[in-house]
Amino acid sequence: MIMYETVSFIHSWWAYLVVIVLLITTVNSIIGLTSKKEYGATDFRLALFTLITTHIQLLIGLVLYFVSPYFTALTESGMGPVMKDSTLRLYLVEHPLMMILAVVLITVGYSKHKKKLTSKPKFKTLSIFYTLALLFVLSRIPWSAWF
Ligand code: HEM
Repeated sequence: MIMYETVSFIHSWWAYLVVIVLLITTVNSIIGLTSKKEYGATDFRLALFTLITTHIQLLIGLVLYFVSPYFTALTESGMGPVMKDSTLRLYLVEHPLMMILAVVLITVGYSKHKKKLTSKPKFKTLSIFYTLALLFVLSRIPWSAWF
């Protein structure tokens, strides 16, 4: 229980960092693309910082998943009842799945943008992948429990 409470606390606070840096990097890339800015060191650092922050949240989330009481509910009653309960389904299926997909989008977007040689395609790649990831994250945050 102490393990669950600690990891849950860290995951809950780290989430603010994730949402903030992802939002900043996404907006920054869209501004870079639309204003035809030159891609520079700050743009690269933002993209990288978002990658690292979300990867850390992914690891914390994975640990949290297996120590949470929700997981106990899954092992005790199985997938059927979990899917019928909207709270259990959110924490055990929808949230982890969408967050993992968001991290995949960020990882793919980051590596693709790095391989582009000029500013416009770099900003364009980041804009597309990070915006999608942001939407995935925002769609499956348990807002009522978090805020
Ligand atoms: C990477 C982006 C992620 C973000 C932004 C995020 C954010 C959050 C937030 C805001 C909460 C609610 C915390 C609260 O109630 O105060 C939460 C809960 C939870 N998350 Fe994540 N999460 C992410 C990834 C993951 C992943 C990958 C997993 C599992 C594989 C996961 C598993 C869980 C579980 C099991 C809970 C509910 C347990 C609890 O804290 O009571 N999360 N998450």
